[in-house]
Amino acid sequence: AFEIQLGSSGQILEVPADKSALQVLLEQDIDIPYSCEDGVCGTCLTRVLEGEPDHRDLFMEPAEHAANDQFTPCCSRSKSKRLVLDI
Ligand code: FES
Repeated sequence: AFEIQLGSSGQILEVPADKSALQVLLEQDIDIPYSCEDGVCGTCLTRVLEGEPDHRDLFMEPAEHAANDQFTPCCSRSKSKRLVLDI
C-alpha cells in the first residue's frame, strides 16, 4: 500500500494493494480522465509533485519515467510511501 496526497487540498488517500490509484481517486469523486486502465493510452497521465512513482505503464519513454514528474494512476504504484499529485 502507499498514499497519494492531493496537492490542491492536502487530502491523503490510502491505495491498498488490491486497488489502483485511479480507482481510489474515482471513488472519492475526483475526476481523472482515463481510457484503457492498462498503462497503454496515457489518458490518465497525472503530474507528480513529490515522491517516486513505480512506473508500470508502457506509454512513457524511459527518460520520462526517470524524470518521475508524472505517472499513470491506472496501473502504476509508488516506491515512496507517498506520492503528492498535482490535482
Ligand atoms: Fe490508459 Fe491509464 S488509462 S494509461
